[in-house]
Amino acid sequence: MTSAQDDAIDAVLARRGGRRDQLVQILREVQSHTGWLSRPVLARVAAAVGLTPAIVEGVAGFYRFLHLKPVGCYHVLWSDNVTDRMLGSHGLAREMCRELLIEPGKVSEDGLVSVGFTSCTGLGDQGPALLVNHHQVLTRMHARRVAELADLIRARIPVSDWPAEWMQVTNPVQRADVLLGSEPLQGQALRAAIARGSDATLAEINVSRLRGRGGAGFATGTKWGLCRRALPAAGTNRVVVCNADEGEPGTFKDRALLTLHPDSVFEGMTVAAYLLDARRGFVYLRGEYRYLLESLEQVLARRRAQGLLGQRILGSEGFDFDIDIHVGAGAYVCGEESALIESLEGKRGNPRIRPPFPVERGYLGQPTTVNNVETFCAAAHIAHRGGTWWAGIGTEASTGTKIHSVSGDCARPGIYEYPFGVTVEQILHDCGAAEQGRRTQAVQVGGPSGVCLDAGEFTRRIGFEDVPTAGAFMVFDHRRDMFEVARGFAHFFAHESCGFCTPCRIGTELVVRRMDKLAAGYGSLFDEAELDELQGLLHGTTHCGLGATATNPLRDTLTRFRAAYERRLHATHFVPAFDLDAELAPARRVTGRDDPLAHLERYG
Ligand SMILES: Cc1cc2nc3c(=O)[nH]c(=O)nc-3n(C[C@H](O)[C@H](O)[C@H](O)COP(=O)(O)O)c2cc1C
Ligand code: SF4
Repeated sequence: MTSAQDDAIDAVLARRGGRRDQLVQILREVQSHTGWLSRPVLARVAAAVGLTPAIVEGVAGFYRFLHLKPVGCYHVLWSDNVTDRMLGSHGLAREMCRELLIEPGKVSEDGLVSVGFTSCTGLGDQGPALLVNHHQVLTRMHARRVAELADLIRARIPVSDWPAEWMQVTNPVQRADVLLGSEPLQGQALRAAIARGSDATLAEINVSRLRGRGGAGFATGTKWGLCRRALPAAGTNRVVVCNADEGEPGTFKDRALLTLHPDSVFEGMTVAAYLLDARRGFVYLRGEYRYLLESLEQVLARRRAQGLLGQRILGSEGFDFDIDIHVGAGAYVCGEESALIESLEGKRGNPRIRPPFPVERGYLGQPTTVNNVETFCAAAHIAHRGGTWWAGIGTEASTGTKIHSVSGDCARPGIYEYPFGVTVEQILHDCGAAEQGRRTQAVQVGGPSGVCLDAGEFTRRIGFEDVPTAGAFMVFDHRRDMFEVARGFAHFFAHESCGFCTPCRIGTELVVRRMDKLAAGYGSLFDEAELDELQGLLHGTTHCGLGATATNPLRDTLTRFRAAYERRLHATHFVPAFDLDAELAPARRVTGRDDPLAHLERYG
């Protein structure tokens, strides 16, 4: 360790006050100076926060962006969502490795560079995308850019000196409605809430019938009402958490809201704090969105200066609330609200056993509401314009609008906001899915944990009563192999399973092995039956929603795109996942035998 690194570690520990609940932030920040987390570094952090080195190593080992082994000075991670692959990411990554003379997943001998893959980076509308050293995103990669990038790395040019246009993240709003089309809220909603009072504002949220936008669709007014009724322990307060983990592959609408409308999101959190008498708020920002941190901090600072955060907000006595941003470290399961809270407390992101629910006992045991970015944004507009206004948009069971992240085989990928009740075919029409001779065969709505629809279902409507969604809308035209799409998602879930419960840990892996077996050409009816059984098993037996939805893509493609499986079934009975006779070839060579008895197939 250099003395500069020593000083940097001291500075991080001092700034974070050596607090255990800051452990993930401490490790992330320390690593940004040391490159990786060696045993001596972990021991030093452990001593500072008063934990054993084994516990600290256990925490670090949980997160993909924290490294217990050295990585390259330039650590390149290609986004590995299906939409990146459709745009050629695998070929480009191979080309990059060839240029840099390295193998994927390995560090070059001089320690200069490592190249690997990571789950979707939330840039599906401008892929193929990649992350460098976890904080710099590069979008719209192509062959020439890969060659130039390899040159820059070989010449050890600092990332900050790379061409700015490579790092450009755009947020193409293709259709705006009441959220994306409104002026950002800088106090209007808060003034309306304060004028009305907290009871009446909560009543407005209830009248709006707003349901959470993070996936489960729980009624926001009910959740806040439950949190309000839960009494914090003496000397503590309720907590407001904004879930900006956005890990569902193909989803990037929260990225757009945090970039284009951060004021409205923070205003929604502050309205929630007013209703709940909360003092502390957190934004749990996914590690892949680390590049947004500085701009979000600037908005928070401005809002403090405007009297919209801090002590006596808008002059209202006793209304004290502020927001911290916690940057995640690469773990999809940390989007699950109780795992998110564990992570906020500086621990491994294992989902908690419930009850108690976070609204009763959440962050550090305090009543906590966890809501999606879009939910807070909607709540702010409802506090401003009233619940009846919101309830008048959308459908009876699904009020208001929903923002979609549209990607895949379409002419105009990007951000689309529609009132609930819009048909799938309307979105397909608007994004140009049928242009340039394309024929859409499937849409994955809500990401891999959502549903896969075939062409016969495009008249269905987006809404909790028909096709619910957390926001992803991935389009697949007739050229795509839906078995391969589902296999990619199976790998994603197995990779992201936290391993806490057996059905998910083992089940997701078994699904991957069977699907890989089919892909390798050793499929049989036996394997198909096994896959069907596995998908049923996982639905009812896992500890959290990750395992419960992990086989949705398998279920949907097995029923809707059966032909894609059938062409991979070569026998009615079990066949092994490898060619036993071919495996024995080296032994035959060594012994000099090649007679019929030395071959398994010909034997007997
Ligand atoms: C594996 C898993 C990942 C999740 N990821 C997210 C996420 O990235 N963002 C989100 O808002 N909700 C996510 N959720 C849902 C949250 O647990 C929670 O329901 C949500 O944040 C509540 O907010 P809402 O009521 O506003 O929807 C996830 C759930 C599971 C099971
Ligand atoms: S279902 Fe999967 S992700 Fe959820 S707790 Fe179990 S192992 Fe972890």
